[in-house]
Amino acid sequence: MVKIAPSILSADFARLGEEIKEVEQGGADWIHVDVMDGHFVPNLTIGPLVVKAIRPHTNLTLDVHLMIENADFYIPEFAKSGADMITVHQEACVHLHRTIYHIKNQGVKAAVSLNPATPVSTLEHILEDIDMVLLMSVNPGFGGQKFIPEVVRKIKQLRELLVERGLEDKVEIQIDGGINAETAPLVVEAGATCLVAGNAIFGQQDRARAIREIRQACE
Ligand code: DX5
Ligand code: ZN
Repeated sequence: MVKIAPSILSADFARLGEEIKEVEQGGADWIHVDVMDGHFVPNLTIGPLVVKAIRPHTNLTLDVHLMIENADFYIPEFAKSGADMITVHQEACVHLHRTIYHIKNQGVKAAVSLNPATPVSTLEHILEDIDMVLLMSVNPGFGGQKFIPEVVRKIKQLRELLVERGLEDKVEIQIDGGINAETAPLVVEAGATCLVAGNAIFGQQDRARAIREIRQACE
């Protein structure tokens, strides 16, 4: 069954603990935390302090998506604050292999994200070392953007590459950006195993229903 990871970027930050409880009770699998630095992406969000603050409010996997430069410097802080999985951007890491092992050495799962225009082939030599690939289906920086359909072809390519290497049960394929009950079935059919959704979940009054609708659309 596909995993659903609500992105707290679209939640009410004044009541983050309750928002997380609500999606947890509504059937969320992971909690997706978007970290932006105003350099790699044109927006600023949160740091390790907020990860630490939400950690006691949930037992779900905290999936921390770093859209930042100089990730190596911040990785230990996010790990100490309670991240279970840390995703870095291929485009922001000059020494990607070193950064992946830096994450793993903290006892945290490691993932790599690709912007919409970055080819899957750039991960060919790191696939064996990672737990997940995050394919962006919008240009990172903001919630509530429109899904870029070209990602479907990328998902299929990645899935084929994973099958070729016998890694299809080991490496998750996560899709992030513009996911809702209409777009979710397209990416799941192509091979996605984990869906991030911000606006489609926190933009709805009834979060449990929003999660259910995305799930049912994929069956
Ligand atoms: C975008 C973030 C996403 C974002 C998704 O830069 O990485 O996680 O919150 O939001 P929606 O689902 O609203 O597109
Ligand atoms: Zn994200």
